[in-house]
Amino acid sequence: MDGSSEHDARLEVRGGRRLEGEVVLSGAKNSALKLLAASLLTTDPCVIRRVPRITDVATMVTMLRALGAQADPVGDGDVLRVHAGSGLSGCAPYELVRTMRASIIVMGPLVARLGEATIAMPGGCNIGPRRIDFHIRGLEKLGAHIDIDHGFIRVHSDGLKGAVVPLDYPSVGATENLLMAATAAEGETVIENAAREPEIMDLCAFLAGMGAEIEGAGTSTIHIAGGRPLHGVDHAVIADRIEAGTYLLMGAATSGRVTTIGLDPAHLELFLTKLRAMGVQVEEGEERITVSRDGPLAPVDISTLPHPGFATDLQAQTMVLLSLAEGTSIITENVFENRFVVVDELNRLGAGIETSGHHAVIAGPRSLSGTVVEAPDLRGGAALVTAGLVADGQTEVRSVYHIDRGYEDLTGKLRILGADVSRAGEGPRTEPEMPASLKSCDDEAVRSA
Ligand code: EPZ
Repeated sequence: MDGSSEHDARLEVRGGRRLEGEVVLSGAKNSALKLLAASLLTTDPCVIRRVPRITDVATMVTMLRALGAQADPVGDGDVLRVHAGSGLSGCAPYELVRTMRASIIVMGPLVARLGEATIAMPGGCNIGPRRIDFHIRGLEKLGAHIDIDHGFIRVHSDGLKGAVVPLDYPSVGATENLLMAATAAEGETVIENAAREPEIMDLCAFLAGMGAEIEGAGTSTIHIAGGRPLHGVDHAVIADRIEAGTYLLMGAATSGRVTTIGLDPAHLELFLTKLRAMGVQVEEGEERITVSRDGPLAPVDISTLPHPGFATDLQAQTMVLLSLAEGTSIITENVFENRFVVVDELNRLGAGIETSGHHAVIAGPRSLSGTVVEAPDLRGGAALVTAGLVADGQTEVRSVYHIDRGYEDLTGKLRILGADVSRAGEGPRTEPEMPASLKSCDDEAVRSA
């Protein structure tokens, strides 16, 4: 063994191929993680289908096991069975929360199920501080008592009570935590200014399948009639709209013809409108979207916003397509504080992007040429692969583990579309370890609660 680890994995992308063909989408990362957490709300087993085989899911499975639940694959496909019977502990250890800040999503279900939760404070990440004040204030509105110290959030409730919970901002995670907590709150909860993402609707469908009474899923005002016991559910995750948008952008960038299978086009409505405005042909069908391009691209201006606005998770990848357009485009990033991290690496590939605060000015058309680049995060990594597909020569994308967090079998799916890509340099893949120091949940700092 050459001592290399999975963090040494890199992608070698040789540009110049047109992508042609169909790609079957995986289940949505940003829904699957929450459905896994929602399974904690019942003592019955839950079956979740079309779970993407990505490292964030492996981390969440490890988290559920650390909390005392059973979480196991059914067969060798994309089905997971979660059984959070008795013996649950309400503590999410630092090692796992540090690995995946979305772990915070177990807070709502734990306080609903157990009346308490101890969660290591999620750090920020390189796209922003990722605060959780809306989560905290919302849970307090439902009657939870929350202390934060020594790096842990300690939530306690003597019984949640339904309330009107206005969100300052339609936070996806806060909406999800509050939805799950509200199912156990006595009486009605109304979440105002709720997030409207398709993943929120999928969570509401999952909770309704468990016996929850929810109205307004997908709108800004969601009503939850709490206090009903929840039972098991068998549910298939919706397709991943960000994975879909990424492959559609790759097809347009390479002047190819790419069809995604499995996604309702309505989940990408504004994104597809922007592609058409750039001169990309877009055909929509029953859970099928086809893009093709045989002419020049026009520049467009884009502002990222909460759904149904333009998805921030497609912003970095779209910068690559705009670098090929005949003119200057402006992207305004309104969701995260620092989501232009990948710009420097894109410019090393020949892009001409200048940023100032929340604005990126993308000059085009630019000829990209391959070199060694470093993925800074999940979607930045996807942007670098997109650039590599059109760059002259070979692009070596390092820190591919970022990409593995959210894209199932990227290399395999790209090869099916005719791309010339390969993975190299990686050591043995390791499942996220059950942290040896689970005691971090009951060390002195926490015990002194
Ligand atoms: C979810 O993150 C997604 N992650 C993100 O996808 C996605 O970009 C984001 O929603 C927006 O669509 C998962 O679902 C696991 P937010 P989340 O709460 O829930 C601020 C990807 O690439 N905020 O809507 O963390 C926050 O700092 C990832 O798949 C507060 O200030 O998003 C951010 O600026 C990246 N206080 C903005 O709101 C809070 O209490 C949006 O955050 C909560 C959020």
